[in-house]
Amino acid sequence: MNTFAFIIHPLDVKREVAQKYPRLARFPTWAIEAFLATRAPFAYATIKGIESKAGGAVKGVFIVCPLSPRILINRPRFAYSRILECCDLAHQHGAQIVGLGAYTACSGDAGVTLNQPGQSPVPVTTGNSYTVATALQSVVMACEMLAIVPKNAKLAIVGATGSIGTACAWALAHQFRLTYLVGRDLALLGKTERLVHAYLGAGDQTAFQSTTSSGVLLDADILLVATSSPHALIHPEHLKPGSIVVDVSRPRNVSTRVARERSDVLVIDGGVVSVPGELSMERLDRPGQAFSLGFPPNTLYACMAETAILALEGHFQPFTVGKEIFPRQIDQVGGWALKHGFRLAGLRAFEKPVTEEQIARVRNARIRARSA
Ligand SMILES: NC(=O)c1ccc[n+]([C@@H]2O[C@H](COP(=O)([O-])OP(=O)(O)OC[C@H]3O[C@@H](n4cnc5c(N)ncnc54)[C@H](OP(=O)(O)O)[C@@H]3O)[C@@H](O)[C@H]2O)c1
Repeated sequence: MNTFAFIIHPLDVKREVAQKYPRLARFPTWAIEAFLATRAPFAYATIKGIESKAGGAVKGVFIVCPLSPRILINRPRFAYSRILECCDLAHQHGAQIVGLGAYTACSGDAGVTLNQPGQSPVPVTTGNSYTVATALQSVVMACEMLAIVPKNAKLAIVGATGSIGTACAWALAHQFRLTYLVGRDLALLGKTERLVHAYLGAGDQTAFQSTTSSGVLLDADILLVATSSPHALIHPEHLKPGSIVVDVSRPRNVSTRVARERSDVLVIDGGVVSVPGELSMERLDRPGQAFSLGFPPNTLYACMAETAILALEGHFQPFTVGKEIFPRQIDQVGGWALKHGFRLAGLRAFEKPVTEEQIARVRNARIRARSA
């Protein structure tokens, strides 16, 4: 059976490590991170039961890279050596393709060097093409639910200079009245804006405003958030009544205060996908014990799903690699997903399904804000 591996790492070091090593929880985060950096990668859980509706099945294995988001971003050379060890381990477990999870995809050059001869023994993908495909679907679905007409609405992309942010900008901006490209560096935002214009073609009239100010967020109807900030960036005071936030970032970038204090906005977890078959994940260190991502049954992150889809296709070559994501990759993986029976897992907010009641409340908040 075709086999894939997916590299994961702790997102919230203190909370997750406390589960495995309770005595470590009393140490400061930096000390726990330093301890983890001394540990070797290990195979953590099996993935079984993914069965294509077109026929064929695949299995997988989660490999843990025991590095924190901060170390993955700030020490890319060291992180690279650990990620390479993860790929070697994946190979030993029979994987024919490897997906880079969360910050292992943001670290360094996002798989370019890993895919060079003499580096990873298994081809590597970041999984970002299918993540973008599902983020776009979430935006369309959320606009329909709240009766938002994109050509009358304003979009903000937070993390616009990043791989996912840039791809979402060229795929979505032309449908909206105005798109704010929000980032940390105006020069980088200018580069992104030129790249997006190149995608849209000469003569395109799409309106953009690049900014480093979070003040513009109060003017946006839809926010798409995809940054590698390990901290929350979107707080209750940033959001307009009746707006929608699609948060693709992991760890999430929308503060949990938004869930508590702003029942008039809809926050959607980007990139959660329903997979075909009867998905089961089991810990290797405790046979018989299920491994959970905290999602409903039969769901995975889109980047994991992309890796499984490539295994189903027998596409054992690098797929989404580097920071630029191309339209043909999004179309191709989207087509394969449909063929095999992968689809967006409805709309979810802070790990729970979005209810009719929530939608009605946010829709009413929009109406009230418009007539005020
Ligand atoms: N849900 C899923 O299935 C899924 C799948 C894949 C990835 N993801 C998540 O998506 C996010 C983005 O991934 P990516 O591959 O697009 O990353 P990327 O290419 O590395 O881009 C990261 C972006 O974040 C910005 N950024 C970094 N630190 C920041 C901070 N402290 N404040 C504000 N902006 C900051 C960067 O800005 P500069 O250009 O200024 O550095 C850049 O725009 C990550 O959180 C990743 O874990 C989720």
